[in-house]
Amino acid sequence: MSKKPLILGIESSCDETAASLITENEQGIPIVLSSIVSSQEDVHKEFGGVVPELAARSHIEKIDLIVQKAIKKSGKSIDDIDAVASTAGPGLIVCLSVGLSFGKAFACAIKKPFIAINHLEGHALSPKINSDINYPYLLLLISGGHSQFLIVKGLGNYKRLGTTIDDALGEAFDKTAKLLGIDFPGGPQIEILAEKGNPNKYDLPKPIFNKGGCNLSFAGLKTAILKISKKIKTKQEKFDLAASFQQKIIEILFKKTKIAFSEFEKQIKPKEKKFVVAGGVAANKEIRKMLTNLCKKEKYEPIFPPLNLCGDNAAMIAMVGLEKFKLKKFNNLDFPAKPRWPLDEEAAFLKGAGVKL
Ligand code: KG4
Ligand code: ZN
Repeated sequence: MSKKPLILGIESSCDETAASLITENEQGIPIVLSSIVSSQEDVHKEFGGVVPELAARSHIEKIDLIVQKAIKKSGKSIDDIDAVASTAGPGLIVCLSVGLSFGKAFACAIKKPFIAINHLEGHALSPKINSDINYPYLLLLISGGHSQFLIVKGLGNYKRLGTTIDDALGEAFDKTAKLLGIDFPGGPQIEILAEKGNPNKYDLPKPIFNKGGCNLSFAGLKTAILKISKKIKTKQEKFDLAASFQQKIIEILFKKTKIAFSEFEKQIKPKEKKFVVAGGVAANKEIRKMLTNLCKKEKYEPIFPPLNLCGDNAAMIAMVGLEKFKLKKFNNLDFPAKPRWPLDEEAAFLKGAGVKL
């Protein structure tokens, strides 16, 4: 039996400091030996969002310990590691620099290859951990920083079908929560409040609902909620606003996912129709329910990676590292941190004023 590669993955692109060790089994399926994630919720909660300088400081304080813990938990020793993979982008540059520099130095010290990883590629390939899912598949990535529909054709081969032209979906949940007086990140709380509210109470807008293909837009919702939130007096009205917001999101995702399905089928003509939903917002039970029902109707297999692999983690980074290691796709130590690093380099940049859809 030949030795299977052992990869150390490091993630620090936003507000999670994470490290993981991954190998593969005899069938070539990636297996997680350890995955340690330290979140900074307490650091940022009073500010209503991630403060880059504080996030970077917290990464610096914790990274040694987190990597040490991941190695210890895996039952392996430093000498067993075959390569080090760090997130190099996209993300906050001061945060990326911490994990990237640490990973480079670590690789250098153990005299093993260094591999720079695109964080979005980690999310895109995360369903391959512990599973033998084949390419191609359609991916909806909904997190605090990204909201995209992508065709995942293979390692390094992506086609973006749609993206947000303003806020990410998790950001929209968090901003709504902030307006309702809930600490960051408020997305999960909105889901809880919404259970007690009337989803039809407030009529909120659905930006670019009837145009822009499967591109998304959520900033208009925030403006509408700001106006309503100023008039809210009772707890019940707060529940109703949370429920109305979540309902609008569900209506938007329902329509835009249907458009993405037809684009996927037109472009790929897939033998099997598979739909992966990843990112922190994929934890939302009402969104899951709606997307699962839609898949049933449209004959797609819905795939929701386990929640610990949906949010930011280093197992997905180590996993892409493993795939690249097998192809000997290594990087030099001068590989830069890339705050912007789209998976589909040919897709147009669709943010900011004057965007044409
Ligand atoms: O993927 P993630 O852990 O981190 C990144 O942003 O990359 O996603 C975090 C986002 C936050 O905006 C959080 O509020 C949102 O996911 N979120 C939720 C739920 N759980 C997490 N949004 C709505 N409903 C939830 N249950
Ligand atoms: Zn992420």
